[in-house]
Amino acid sequence: MKVVVVGTGYVGLVTGACLAEVGTDVVCVDVDAAKISRLEEGILPIYEPGLEEIVTRNFKNGRLKFSTSLEFSIPDAAVAFIAVGTPPGEDGSADLRYVLQVAREIGHHMTAPLVIVTKSTVPVGTAVKVNRAVKEALQDRSASIDYDVASNPEFLKEGAAVADFMKPDRIVVGVNNDRAAKVLEALYAPFLLNGHPILFMDVASAEMTKYAANAMLATKISFMNDIAGLCELVGADVNKVRKGIGSDPRIGSRFIYPGIGYGGSCFPKDVKALIRTGLEYDRRLRILEAVEAVNDDQKKVMFDKIFRHFDGQLKNKTIALWGLSFKPNTDDMREAPSLVLVASLLEAGASVRVFDPVAMHEAQKALGDAVEWCSDLYHAAEGADAVALVTEWNEFRLPDWKRIGARVLFDGRNIYDDVTLHKNGITYYGIGTIQPS
Ligand code: UGA
Repeated sequence: MKVVVVGTGYVGLVTGACLAEVGTDVVCVDVDAAKISRLEEGILPIYEPGLEEIVTRNFKNGRLKFSTSLEFSIPDAAVAFIAVGTPPGEDGSADLRYVLQVAREIGHHMTAPLVIVTKSTVPVGTAVKVNRAVKEALQDRSASIDYDVASNPEFLKEGAAVADFMKPDRIVVGVNNDRAAKVLEALYAPFLLNGHPILFMDVASAEMTKYAANAMLATKISFMNDIAGLCELVGADVNKVRKGIGSDPRIGSRFIYPGIGYGGSCFPKDVKALIRTGLEYDRRLRILEAVEAVNDDQKKVMFDKIFRHFDGQLKNKTIALWGLSFKPNTDDMREAPSLVLVASLLEAGASVRVFDPVAMHEAQKALGDAVEWCSDLYHAAEGADAVALVTEWNEFRLPDWKRIGARVLFDGRNIYDDVTLHKNGITYYGIGTIQPS
């Protein structure tokens, strides 16, 4: 079976590479010619553990190809995935311009029956629009070719995308008939071994599942961040509370870690888009409005702690940031809490020294020379008055505290403990933990 994946961003590239890895012939198509030629040289646009290896291997063995031409790629394909960006518009709704453009182009160039699959995160009702776009394009050229439009949202986590794709918790497929279901079941068969389930449903439910999943996860995080704030006030330790509630299987121990707010390309955008969809149907999603508001506030929590600790005197103070990306194992800086923190610190007159194991290049695009770029965590901490742990990269977990001159540490992810820090003469501030008096 030959598959075309349109869009070589994060979702498209992982999908294309992983499908090729199990034996499917894949062409990844992108309008960006420079990106395509870099990919052919084995240079990836994103950092994702394990991805480079499978891209290179499958490119070499010929199962994975790259092209800028949908026209030449689509004719003999059985499945076309649309995995292009859906950036948020001004009002928070997902901008479907690129998705529909690709749908029209597919309609212009397809020559044989095709299953067209939306893989990008798209609002409920998008498959209907894609269907219309393809139909109109076929009518324009007076062609009559069978096609189906399906929805197959992805649930990949950045930093673990290859593993998530190869061993999915579930594969959700929204289809309107058996024909499309059979094609997609055959395509995904290699990933269903060992009991990984494929769930077939109608298209609207599949589209909704994606948003409901991310909205639920974002809700867990904001809920815990709200509880963490209260823990600090009442003198409780959220780490203990987290374990206490997480051992109830109805609650579960995953995704209830408080921090300095969720970031990335998914949660902030999807929560906004779902709120927006609600409004289109005259329904306020009040929980999600609160989830978003709590998260916006949470991104300011670390700065507030630093500001209070130094009695509002941040001029002439130097703060070292450990980690910049929105989470470990990615260089993604989109909606990263570090950006909010750096902006506030600079505005208050502090100097900022930063280090991230992977995201320095991406971060430079946003921060330029407003901060000092350092070569490792110790270099960042040199001469700093305080250290702020922003992203919980593994290499930050066990620093040699003797080499850290700063006498105060702000832990945005609760990876350290106050006892160890105190032993080393460092004042410790966690999130939702007992705060120094
Ligand atoms: C998220 C979902 O987890 C994926 O299932 C989904 O497919 C993806 O969005 C998407 O829609 O494409 P991702 O954005 O890569 O994946 O990152 P997560 O690992 O989910 O983390 C999101 C944010 O939540 C990070 O800022 C992280 O630090 C924060 N987080 C996560 C917490 O603050 N606490 C937690 O307990 C877990």
